[in-house]
Formats: sequence, structure tokens, C-alpha cells
Amino acid sequence: MSMYRNAIWFLNGIHHYTRKGYEAASKDFEPQDLNVSVVGRSFMVTGANSGIGRATAMAIAKKGGTVHMVCRNRDKAEEARTDIVNESGNTEVYIHIVDMSQTRKVWEFAEAFKKEYPSLNVLINNAGCMVHKRELTAEGLEKNFATNTMGVYILTQTLIPLLQKSRDPRVITVSSGGMLVQKLRVDDLQSEKGYFDGVMIYAQNKRQQVVLTQHWAKANPVIHFSVMHPGWVDTPAVSSSMPQFHHMMGDRLRGVEQGADTVVWLALSRVASRTCSGQFFQDRKPVPVHLPLAWTHSSAEEIQSFVTQLETLAKAIQLQPDVDLNGPLSPSRPQFV
Ligand SMILES: NC(=O)c1ccc[n+]([C@@H]2O[C@H](COP(=O)([O-])OP(=O)(O)OC[C@H]3O[C@@H](n4cnc5c(N)ncnc54)[C@H](OP(=O)(O)O)[C@@H]3O)[C@@H](O)[C@H]2O)c1
Repeated sequence: MSMYRNAIWFLNGIHHYTRKGYEAASKDFEPQDLNVSVVGRSFMVTGANSGIGRATAMAIAKKGGTVHMVCRNRDKAEEARTDIVNESGNTEVYIHIVDMSQTRKVWEFAEAFKKEYPSLNVLINNAGCMVHKRELTAEGLEKNFATNTMGVYILTQTLIPLLQKSRDPRVITVSSGGMLVQKLRVDDLQSEKGYFDGVMIYAQNKRQQVVLTQHWAKANPVIHFSVMHPGWVDTPAVSSSMPQFHHMMGDRLRGVEQGADTVVWLALSRVASRTCSGQFFQDRKPVPVHLPLAWTHSSAEEIQSFVTQLETLAKAIQLQPDVDLNGPLSPSRPQFV
């Protein structure tokens, strides 16, 4: 990626992704879009205990929706649930403990959910991470890829049949504008080649989410798919994974409700479901998935190769004999990276 393109992206971010960017964009919002009741509709939100996910779960609970919080840490999840229930007065808020980086567990959870619940109206893939060191999960996947891409892929793919039989089904994935500087790298999905730069690997995963959303939208016309950028938001992920950026941006960062606004709008509003499926949103508007003149476009063959690789990896993990997810890497375990 050229320095030039990087600089353009950053300047664009200062203009649009900050608190000021939100305030300017929100002047065009229609307040009645969110004047809805979603009593009886169910929403699954991953990473619902913190930041954008928590603000989204809170907003949905306030509109009467049933919320399934998918979190990896029980204490944090319980604390967030208590706040959500107290503030919204809605007790239809349920916790599911799942680590999204553990592919097999994600699959087992989704299969069990499908059996237990008759419907799921909206899936919100929000959980995400930026790990700066190359780390493998017990299943042999690179950690960022496992969480941001494989977890999203397997949860969505497994829940599609349930979503399909539910009313007005939607899938929203929280990506990032950072993906604009990445082209899908089909020959290196798990960042084995070259220097391991956590920020760029995260951006590559976020590009993968955009490509997956476009693929799903084509393959599943009954479900409304969207992917979005929340802007630059003051959350624990940013302060811990990008401390310098967090410090530099200070109070120019968006608040969590501002970051969650487009997720909530995509999940709740009637007007969102009438937009074309498969688009990338920023501040309630579809925006291009490539910078002007960028070399980030993928061919149909590249997209097919990406999806095939995901399917193959997912199948291999589903068929894998039980692994001790907390144990050290066993040499007999299949390695996918
Ligand atoms: N903040 C921004 O400026 C920004 C910009 C672009 C995109 N995003 C995206 O927004 C989404 C939400 O992030 P955030 O900024 O709101 O950060 P956050 O407050 O730190 O929330 C991240 C959430 O993801 C959960 N999570 C991470 N890894 C997980 C795993 N393996 N299994 C289950 N849950 C996991 C975290 O759980 P724990 O609390 O247990 O860690 C937390 O609930 C992410 O996808 C992020 O990439 C954020």
C-alpha cells in the first residue's frame, strides 16, 4: 500500500470517522427511522459486553427486542446484562458464553442455538480483535483470522437456515474503514508471509468480512446482509490495541452510542431492510468498498477461492477429534497455517 493512499485514507478518516464526522452526518438522519418497537424479534450480538456491541444490545433492549449476548467472559457478560436490564427494563436478555476464536465451539454453539430457538431475526457480528503477535489457536488458526473471519463465517453460515425461516432476517457485520487499504489476499489468508503487522492483518480480516458479506448477499436473497464501519470510537479495543492512536485522537473519538448508531439503524429500522443487500455502510449510508483508483478489487475467481478455503478449513475443524482448547499445541493436531 502506498504512503500516498494511506495518507488520503487517514485524512478522509479525520473528516468522517471522528465525533465531528458523526455530528455532521447525523444532521441528515431521520429520527423516526428508529421510532420502532421490536417486541417479539430476537437479536444475537457477539461481543455484547463492551463498546459498540454493548451500546447496540442496550439500544435493542430499549426497543423491546430479545437480546442474545454472545460473550467470552461470564463476569463481564453478567455485569453488562445487569446494566442493560436495569436501564432498559427489558428482562429478555440472555447470555451465551462462547469464545469466537474457537471455531469448533462456535459451530457447536450455533448448532445448539438452532435446535433450542425457533427463530432468530437479526445476527450482529460485532466481536473483534487486533492481536499484534502471530499466535495460533489450539485448532491451528492465526488468532486474528480465527476471531474476525472464521468465527464470523462459521456462526453466520450455521445460523443461515434459522435466519431464513425467521421474519425479516438480517445479518450485520461490524467491519472497519481500515479495510479500504487492503486487497483480499487469497494466497495468504492467515498472514503467514512477510512481516506480521497486526494493524494490517486486522484490516485484511475486515476486508474479508466485506467480501463475505457480498458473497452471502448473492447466495441468500431471503436474508438482508450488511457490513459497516462504526467510525473511530473510544472503546477498550482501541485504547489497548492502538494506544498511540487512542492518545493522539483523544476526545475526537466517537462515543460508543455514536459508533453503534449505524448498527442499530441497520438492525431496527424498516428503511434499512429496503436497501440493497450486501452493502457497506457508514453513518446510515451505503459507501464504496474501494478508494478511488484503488487496486483492491478482487476477481470472481479470487472470491471463489477465498470462500472455498474457508469452507475447507471449517470442515476440517468440524471433523477434527476433540482438542483440548486450553492445552498446549499438540504436534499431531492438523495445522492449517
Ligand atoms: N472502536 C473503533 O474505533 C472501531 C473501528 C472500526 C471497527 N471496530 C470494530 O468494532 C467491533 C467492536 O469493537 P469495540 O471497538 O466496541 O471494542 P471493545 O469495546 O473492546 O469490544 C470488543 C468486543 O469483542 C469481544 N471479543 C473479542 N474477542 C473475542 C472472542 N475471541 N470471543 C468473544 N468475544 C470477543 C470483546 O470481549 P472482551 O470484553 O471479553 O474482550 C468485546 O466484547 C470490533 O469488531 C472492532 O473491530 C471498532
